[in-house]
Amino acid sequence: MIKMNKQTMVFLILTLVTVTAHSEDSLYQQLGGKPAIEKITKHLLDRLLNNEKINFLFKETERDDLHIKIVDQICMETGGPCKYEGLDMVEAHSGMNIKYSEFDIFVEDFILAMEDAEIPFRLQNKVLAIFAPMREDVSYE
Ligand code: HEM
Repeated sequence: MIKMNKQTMVFLILTLVTVTAHSEDSLYQQLGGKPAIEKITKHLLDRLLNNEKINFLFKETERDDLHIKIVDQICMETGGPCKYEGLDMVEAHSGMNIKYSEFDIFVEDFILAMEDAEIPFRLQNKVLAIFAPMREDVSYE
């Protein structure tokens, strides 16, 4: 039987509690909650609207409206306390004739926006794993 003093015991219990609590954090919490998602979305829209390869698609877009919808969607999909109330992805993008190549440019901007918002690489990958499968709903070739 290993002998421990009271201090060591308390330290071990606190470590265990912290590790357990942390492993249960939602991706939303790990990202930094709503402020971090607001930042990512701001940078994403800055990039998309300035990206000459795809910004023609956003000519008619009301930026503030899209910002709110994207924040709610990222928040909800990562386990946060929001409800996305926009169109589903097929409906939202049907008729835009978005090509796979354009989807990939969008994803590049998404990654750069997460970089801008200082999201760690490990978490960027978790976010991408949620959104990448939407490629088929949004684009075609
Ligand atoms: C995983 C990828 C994507 C996500 C999560 C996403 C998300 C969204 C959301 C939430 C909306 C708002 C829907 C509504 O009005 O109710 C939207 C609209 C739109 N998206 Fe996407 N999108 C994605 C990919 C793309 C790509 C690849 C493009 C173009 C290259 C694009 C262009 C647009 C445009 C032009 C609108 C319409 C904005 C407007 O109302 O004028 N999206 N998207």
